[in-house]
Amino acid sequence: MARDSAIYVCQSCGNVHNKWAGQCGGCGQWNTLVQETYNTPPGGLKAETPGKISRLNQLQFETLESEDAIPVRMVTGIDEFDRVCGGGVVPGSAILIAGDPGVGKSTLLLQVAASAALKNLKVAYISGEEAVEQIRGRAGRMGLAKAPVDLAAETALRTILEALKREKFDLVIIDSIQTLWSDAVEAAQGSVSQVRACAGELVRLAKKQSTSIIMVGHVTKEGQIAGPRVVEHMVDAVLSFEGERGYPFRILRGTKNRFGATDEIGVFEMGDAGLREVPNPSALFLGDGHERASGSAVFAGIEGSRPVLVEVQALVAPSAYGTPRRAVVGWDSGRLAMILAVLEARCGVGFGQKDVYLNVAGGLRISEPAGDLCAALALVSALTDVPLPRDCVVFGEISLSGDIRSVSRAEGRLKEALKLGFSSAVTAQSVAENAPLQVRGFTTLVDAVTSLFPQG
Ligand code: TYD
Ligand code: MG
Repeated sequence: MARDSAIYVCQSCGNVHNKWAGQCGGCGQWNTLVQETYNTPPGGLKAETPGKISRLNQLQFETLESEDAIPVRMVTGIDEFDRVCGGGVVPGSAILIAGDPGVGKSTLLLQVAASAALKNLKVAYISGEEAVEQIRGRAGRMGLAKAPVDLAAETALRTILEALKREKFDLVIIDSIQTLWSDAVEAAQGSVSQVRACAGELVRLAKKQSTSIIMVGHVTKEGQIAGPRVVEHMVDAVLSFEGERGYPFRILRGTKNRFGATDEIGVFEMGDAGLREVPNPSALFLGDGHERASGSAVFAGIEGSRPVLVEVQALVAPSAYGTPRRAVVGWDSGRLAMILAVLEARCGVGFGQKDVYLNVAGGLRISEPAGDLCAALALVSALTDVPLPRDCVVFGEISLSGDIRSVSRAEGRLKEALKLGFSSAVTAQSVAENAPLQVRGFTTLVDAVTSLFPQG
């Protein structure tokens, strides 16, 4: 038995210290060190017996080629979810689903569990957050009560592991990893050591008996998955579930996937009966399929690590006062002034005695220069009352000389536009090669304006 020894673990980065300190030497955060005790050797709940160790010491090499057939992915039947996983869940894989509280992680996973169970997979749903009655009530409201899912409310890791070893499941859902607690680690529930130990044991079990495990992970205020990054390294896939407050739309996005691409997204709409899949999300941005109004343009932007499409709306009206108004929502007023000046000086498009309003839909803020071209085209469209093509996105930076510059991650923006149902893009000339959708590239703003608004 190993001697109990105190260690101090940073709750922010997971760095381990021998002595308490006010500041973590690893990440520089203050007051994040918490005392924890280890009484287990690294690597498992129980100490390895000498026999096992000697067997472990004999390393066996294998060939790259496998004699067994590649395991077939388990298709859960929730298409948007399956696609983000890379075409279904790989048997024996561990997936972490992260998202803000209330975004709908439990709802999504209950639907995944029910759908998979109805496809004759053996599924367990283990909740450490809600009582069985609460989950039953939700399943009833969503019309899933008849699905043969094995439901349990449990937080003790040992009990869960024993049950999963006794009965072999295809898919196990753990909601959430922060509520689990292992008696082998003397640290508070939800602490870095507990989360790390519990995730480690579950991943090991997943690999050993080919049970796929989906874990819910909470995110902190800063948007990071609580607990050390090490959990993200342990699992095979990390999917984040995101949604803007006040909107029913939810996006499931892969940020890591050992078995598939990470630029796939799944789109859902939260309703009274749970999440509805949105197979054609362009509807969210284009309304009911009519021609888009003049003054509106869709910007293919990047928010942090993720591409997002946003509608930019402009309104130009005759000014009633001597000094015309320039008002912005979600946009920088200095950049609006610059764009208006470039339009006037380089393209001969004047807004002199007119009020100009620029609004970014959905309460978003665009701060990247890649939005310049979109704002400029929305403004010209509003001025001339000529709408832009319906299914086109716009991005590109405008220089003071009136040139259109290419921007970073053009391919990611185009892929997102394609995924969301757009079929063309207006951007810098240099992006046109190898693009996944039709690109109308321009080198100067005046070319773009004269080509898109010939009669204006
Ligand atoms: P939940 O799945 O509990 O979120 P999480 O597990 O990520 O914390 O979802 C909670 C929210 O979803 C809650 O605010 C209510 C809403 N919701 C609906 O709008 N419709 C529904 O059918 C369900 C089940 C939840
Ligand atoms: Mg939940």
